[in-house]
Amino acid sequence: MLDNQLLLELAEKYGTPLYVYDYEIIERNFKALREELSKHLADFKIAYALKAAPLADLCSFLNSLGAIFEAVSIGEVYTALKADVEPSKIIFDGVSKSSHEIRKAVELGLQSIHVESLDEIFDVASEAERQGKVQNIGIRLNLDVEVETHKGLKTSTRYSKFGIPLYRFKANIEKVLGLKSISVKGLHFHLGSNLRSERPYIEALKKILKLLHASKELAENLAYVDIGGGFPAQLGKTLEMASKLGVWIRNVFLNEFPCLMIIVEPGRFLVAEAGVLLTRVNYVKEIYGKKWALVDAGMNDFIRPALYGAKHKIECVSCRETRQETYSIGGPICESTDVFAENVSLPMLSRGDILVLKEAGAYGISMASNYNQRPRPAVISLYKSQVKIVKKREILAELLNL
Ligand code: LLP
Repeated sequence: MLDNQLLLELAEKYGTPLYVYDYEIIERNFKALREELSKHLADFKIAYALKAAPLADLCSFLNSLGAIFEAVSIGEVYTALKADVEPSKIIFDGVSKSSHEIRKAVELGLQSIHVESLDEIFDVASEAERQGKVQNIGIRLNLDVEVETHKGLKTSTRYSKFGIPLYRFKANIEKVLGLKSISVKGLHFHLGSNLRSERPYIEALKKILKLLHASKELAENLAYVDIGGGFPAQLGKTLEMASKLGVWIRNVFLNEFPCLMIIVEPGRFLVAEAGVLLTRVNYVKEIYGKKWALVDAGMNDFIRPALYGAKHKIECVSCRETRQETYSIGGPICESTDVFAENVSLPMLSRGDILVLKEAGAYGISMASNYNQRPRPAVISLYKSQVKIVKKREILAELLNL
């Protein structure tokens, strides 16, 4: 468990900014979701969306728990393979794949390639033909389903760049099913991230049901429906959504197509709560009556507050002071959006104090950059009191490596 004393020790030993993951929380979340889904579904898989935190060590951990993997670039595929994940457990997604990525994916014999345009289907088919293979594919559909979340996290509305619109796929089904070097094994959608209800999933699945009723040949060939990610970080909320969704899928969807496997692709839910970002206070200053605590982590290390206005709880792990003060927390980057929180109440801070940003395990290290020529932070994992460095802190020389 990540208590303050331990976090403080890790910050002292490994330096800051520092990501720390508690794998026991990841294990708890994975098992809880699996248990909930297994109450309703006989055949399902949990595919970890690597983009949330593409750490090879984490992939081997999740592999040992029975996860499969969803990758959106050859880099993510490579990460999973380096973690000894079998190619047959990797789904390769991605809205704009290069021909190099398609060639590699077909060569590797991945579980399936999810395609997002008709042209991509033809490209995968001709690459597979060139390699003398039959490639399993999944069709990512744009189902025009509205979801309740930040506008930057909606991915299946008609205004979004993702997927093949239903009408276009319908009009070309026969042509696609006629291609000899591909086999359409799956239908896929990903509605958005950080969703709050199971309702949009059900709306999407109803559209899929209609599609399957309209094309017997498609339905007969199909092995799975992949309903994407989107579960929120909170365990209770996710289990509630999974339960309602599971009941509906069993009673309605599988009632009509009982042989289909269901795939879910959680990223945030599995890792967000498990990860925190530790940062040290460099300076405390006042500007026209507003108190700033300026820390050593920046938006290059953790971009969610700057990019989505995301609110992440911040606590002081080193403070002994009981008097409280109101602070805004800013980073070292030369951008006014490099602010982690505005006007939060914390114990009185001074130089050297260590703060923790909570729920930073998803889309934290994965979205870190070298902006302002800053080396990216180290990542530590903790499992049953075993501490491991899973990603070294970048050093200055590495900034010029390539
Ligand atoms: N599957 C696909 C095809 C996806 O595009 C995504 C996320 C997931 C699964 C996993 O979604 P999750 O379960 O994590 O919601 N950077 C943003 C999140 C972007 C998510 C993009 N796609 C953030 O920090 O909130």
